[in-house]
Amino acid sequence: MTLATIRSLQNGTMFCWIILLATCSAMAAPSSCNLRLVKNTIVANCMAQGHLTIPDISLSTEVILLSFNNITYLKESSFPPLGCAKTLTLGMQLAGKLYIGESAFRRLGNLTFLDVGGNKHLMLHDKAFAGLGKLEVLLLDHSDLKDGVLQNSYFEDLLSLKKLDLTGNQIQMACVGRLEGCLTKGLVPVRVKGTEWARWETRQEAGGEHRTLSK
Ligand SMILES: *[C@@H]1O[C@H](CO)[C@@H](O)[C@H](O)[C@H]1NC(C)=O
Ligand SMILES: *[C@@H]1O[C@H](CO)[C@@H](O)[C@H](O)[C@H]1NC(C)=O
Repeated sequence: MTLATIRSLQNGTMFCWIILLATCSAMAAPSSCNLRLVKNTIVANCMAQGHLTIPDISLSTEVILLSFNNITYLKESSFPPLGCAKTLTLGMQLAGKLYIGESAFRRLGNLTFLDVGGNKHLMLHDKAFAGLGKLEVLLLDHSDLKDGVLQNSYFEDLLSLKKLDLTGNQIQMACVGRLEGCLTKGLVPVRVKGTEWARWETRQEAGGEHRTLSK
């Protein structure tokens, strides 16, 4: 199974979009996003089009699919104001590195689902996710992340976060911050600003380990 298949199977929502839209991206590389209405949702399919930067996207788009492009650098001005956007996928960029700068998603402040997984050599500004107060799901799996991602303030602004996928990284740490005792193996507490200590629960799922943040 390829990494792409495993990732999409793990993340049910993505899987549906890929099934619905795979035919479009498989066709002769269009240079602009394919806009479609899927179940009353405006979807911009810009996957696998060789984009080096964010392409033109209609401001009313609710689902933005940008996986499998060649984007290497994102900053606050990279995106137009996409206040309707709820879902954004940036997984598996092909250029081999991706840097996400300060407040890169601030103009997409209504996002609830963000997929940045499968990006080798992912580099994050420690305020990369600032302004994403409504984000519920953040996928950062298979991205060469190390223990440092659980320190600093990466997730501080994510007040609505329900699921953070960090599987497939190089995270050894058993606990974060000044916690009494480093707790049971498999439980990684993470502090999300404005909440009590939250806990990572490890559970087995088909194909591998999943970690879910529960408040
Ligand atoms: C995107 O990256 C792939 C893999 O490195 C490369 O083969 C392709 O030429 C790149 N496309 C563009 C438009 O740079
Ligand atoms: C979020 O959506 C509401 C309306 O649905 C809009 O008024 C607001 O400006 C949006 N927020 C951002 C940051 O775009």
